[in-house]
Amino acid sequence: ELHRIPHPPRRVPLIGDVLGAGVRSPLQDSMRFGRRLGPIFRRKAFGKEIVFVWGADLAAELADESRFAKHVGLGVANLRPVAGDGLFTAYNHEPNWQLAHDVLAPGFSREAMEGYHPMMLAVAERLTDRWDREQAAGRAVDVPGDMTKLTLETIARTGFGHDFGSFERSRPHPFVNAMVGTLTYAQRLNAVPGPLAPLLLRGAIRRNEADIAYLHRTVDAVVAARRSADGEGDLLDRMLKTAHPETGERLAPENIRRQVITFLVAGHETTSGALSFALHYLSRHPDVAARARAEVDRVWGDTDRPGYDQVARLRYLRRVLDESLRLWPTAPAFAREARQDTVLGGVHPMRQGAWTLVLTAMLHRDPQAWGADAERFDPDRFDAKAVRARPAHTFKPFGTGARACIGRQFALHEATLVLGLLLRRYELLADPDYRLRVAERLTLMPEGLRLRLERRVPTP
Ligand code: HEM
Repeated sequence: ELHRIPHPPRRVPLIGDVLGAGVRSPLQDSMRFGRRLGPIFRRKAFGKEIVFVWGADLAAELADESRFAKHVGLGVANLRPVAGDGLFTAYNHEPNWQLAHDVLAPGFSREAMEGYHPMMLAVAERLTDRWDREQAAGRAVDVPGDMTKLTLETIARTGFGHDFGSFERSRPHPFVNAMVGTLTYAQRLNAVPGPLAPLLLRGAIRRNEADIAYLHRTVDAVVAARRSADGEGDLLDRMLKTAHPETGERLAPENIRRQVITFLVAGHETTSGALSFALHYLSRHPDVAARARAEVDRVWGDTDRPGYDQVARLRYLRRVLDESLRLWPTAPAFAREARQDTVLGGVHPMRQGAWTLVLTAMLHRDPQAWGADAERFDPDRFDAKAVRARPAHTFKPFGTGARACIGRQFALHEATLVLGLLLRRYELLADPDYRLRVAERLTLMPEGLRLRLERRVPTP
C-alpha cells in the first residue's frame, strides 16, 4: 500500500535508492531526501523499502499509543546480539521489559537523581581539572572526546559504582572502542543486503564478535565485583536485589548483563553528543552564552559546587540544551508500528505490524510546527509561552510513549550541570574555520569540534 508515498525518481535495480547516499551518513542523506520529497516518503536500499515520516501532523498520529507502539527494527534490532531483551532492545511482548522497567524506574525518580547529583558533580570536576590543564598549556580541547569521557564516567559511577579511569587515559577506554565498534557495525548492517552480509562484512563480523565478547567480559567483571561488596543503592544494586513490587520476581543474571551493557551505552553515547552540540552552539552564539552565564552566576551565587536545586533552576540553560537537541537530536529517529490495521493520515493504509521511521531530526525542523526560520538556533523557542503555542508531539528527542527514554531526567540534569560549570569557568572560543560536520554511528556527534578556552575571572 505504498503507491501514494513519494520516493526518489531514479531507482536502480537491486541497489535501489543508494545513489547520492553514503553508508556513513544514512541520517543526513534521509534528511536530504525528506526536504525534497516531503513529510512522508520512502527510500529503498538493497531490497528494503523504508517509509520515513517527519511531518508534524503524521508524527502526532504516530505518537498515539492506542494505535501505535515502538517497533524494534533496523539499528535497534541489529543491537539485539549485544543487548538482547535489555530495556532498549526488548520487543514489546517480552516479559523482561515490564519487569525491568518496573524494577528500574525508581532509579530515575527525583530522589534518586538527588542521590546521583554529588557523584555527577565529582565526575564533572575531573573534566574541569583536565580543561584547566589544557587551557593553561594553551591547547584547544577535544569536545566530543572529552564529553564522551565525562558521560561514560558519570553513568559508570552513578549506575554501577565503577571507574573506567577515562580522564587518566590519553586514548579512549577499550570499552568505548568496543561500543563504537558495535554501534557502527549495527548501522552498516542496514546498508547491506541481508544474504550478502556474511560475505561483504566478513572482517567486520569477526571484529564485532570480538567487541561483543569484550563488552561482556567488562560487564561481568563489574557485576562480579559488586556481588562481593555493597553498593550505594545505585542501578546495579536495584538490578541485583530488588524484587518486583507486585510479583516478587527478580532479574536473571543473563538479563542483568544485558541491562548493564544497555545502560552503559544508552546512558552515555547520546548525552555526550547532546553536550557537544550545545557547546558548539554556545561558542557560536556569544549572546546566548552571555545570557546563560548570567543566569548561572545569579542562581549559583558565589559557589562553584551547586546543589541539586541550583541546577534544576537553570531554566534558560535548559532551553539552550533543548534547542541543541531540537536541531541535532542525538538519537535521530525512532520506529513505530501499527497495533491493528489502520490508515495513517487518512490516506496511507498500514497493516497490523507495519512500521515507519519517525525522522526526529526533520520533525524538529518542520516549518509548520517551528516556523519558517526552523533552521536557526534560538533557545527562546522553548520559553513557556512559545511551548504552549505549539501543537503537542512536535519535540521528541527522547522518543515517545511507554518506550520513551527512561534516562531523560538523568541526561538533562547531568548535561545542565556540566554546561553550567563550564560556562561559569570558561569563555568558549570557537575556531572560526570550523564548519559543523555531523558524524553518524546510529547516534550523532559534531565531528572534529575543538574549542579554545579562556579562564573567567569569577564574578560574585
Ligand atoms: C530509550 C534518547 C539518555 C537510557 C531512548 C529512546 C530515545 C532516547 C529516542 C527511545 C528509542 C526508541 O523508541 O526506539 C536519548 C537521548 C539521551 C538519552 C537523546 C541524551 C540526551 C539516556 C540516559 C539513559 C538512557 C542517560 C540511562 C541512564 C535509555 C533506555 C531506553 C532509552 C534504557 C529504553 C527505554 C525502554 O524502551 O523502556 N532514549 N536517551 N538514555 N534510553 Fe535514552
